[in-house]
Amino acid sequence: MTADPFTVPLERLRRRTSAKWTKFGPEVLPLWVAEMDVDLAEPIREALDRAVREGDMGYPTPEPYIEAFLDFARARWTWTGLDAARTTPVQSVIMGYVDALLEVTDPGSEILVNSPVYPPFFAYLKQAGRVIREAPLGADMRLDLAAIDRAMAEATAGGRRAGYLLCNPHNPGGAVHTRAELEGVAELSRRHGVPVVSDEIHAPIVYAPHEFTPYLDVDPTGMALHAASKAWNLASIPSALLIGGPESAPFDSYLAGKHHGPSHLGVLAQTAAYRDGGEWLAGMLAGLDRNRLLVRDLLAQHAPQVDYLVPEGTYLTWLDFGTMLGEVPSHALMTHGRLALNVGTDFGTGGAGHARMNIATSPAILEEAVRRIAHTLDVVQSAGASQVSV
Ligand SMILES: Cc1ncc(COP(=O)(O)O)c(C=O)c1O
Repeated sequence: MTADPFTVPLERLRRRTSAKWTKFGPEVLPLWVAEMDVDLAEPIREALDRAVREGDMGYPTPEPYIEAFLDFARARWTWTGLDAARTTPVQSVIMGYVDALLEVTDPGSEILVNSPVYPPFFAYLKQAGRVIREAPLGADMRLDLAAIDRAMAEATAGGRRAGYLLCNPHNPGGAVHTRAELEGVAELSRRHGVPVVSDEIHAPIVYAPHEFTPYLDVDPTGMALHAASKAWNLASIPSALLIGGPESAPFDSYLAGKHHGPSHLGVLAQTAAYRDGGEWLAGMLAGLDRNRLLVRDLLAQHAPQVDYLVPEGTYLTWLDFGTMLGEVPSHALMTHGRLALNVGTDFGTGGAGHARMNIATSPAILEEAVRRIAHTLDVVQSAGASQVSV
């Protein structure tokens, strides 16, 4: 049934005990962390119910998970070279990209990221002794190949090894990198000898006419991470898949090592998602497609000063407040609007004056969020005006 899942009433959402719904008090509307305000897809609920009922709480069996993903990926995207032998379950996408990048770099090596980008692209790799080098997106929030070229040249100066963590599609802002852009990245990767690890967790969430291009389809030497956890809202039971390109030698060395794997429940849920969650996904995407345009229209009507980039993929939108609410607009939005958005500066260079807004919720909540944004702007602007008149 391709029903719109963004119908869970606010009063029921407030009973949730997840981070999104408990970090702030009931007066705050939370549109921050990447959780969706949906109920579980029926096939996933059934798979989890069955496991609980049967006491099926042991260790995971990887093969059905891998096969379900490969069937889903082959049917949905052009992706030559997919191979079960080069697809392996990992504990989570974050753990997967950290471990993959450790294979291609040394302590002190630099890892390129395209800021503004998902904040855990910085923290975990720094903790693992790597140095993050930013190759910021352009003002259009798209990959800047000249900046990547320069960053790769600097990161590999003196023959040092370096890696590149790509976000495909991009969080925040939802750029769906085109095949031509990714071919440009692959050419630079080859020229500078910088292996690419592509985080593709948002790949199923792409709006027509945009099309997701798997990075490994343009570069057989890279590695990629996939998971059903964003598209089917399964953050509570993480699991992911690391995929090695046919010519990725570091993937072979990864396989030779010892790594933490996912939980059995995570694997069961994601297997059901890939195998039987297609109809639910279609309904969810139709709801998000409506939401991304609704937010554009609501902002144009009530807060036209805010620059909103209509996302091509993901539900993590990027709002540009310019200088209206200072360097960290989320603070004023919390204080005056009781609205929780992610702090733009946490996403690296390019985040000042911005906030990330999660639109995976009901139209009624989005309307209230935009009302709170408009109210915040009014309060701050009239305070500024009264200061001028004093
Ligand atoms: C780009 C990106 N990568 C990874 C994750 C988290 O993945 P996991 O929970 O499997 O580590 C997220 C969550 O929002 C994300 O947006």
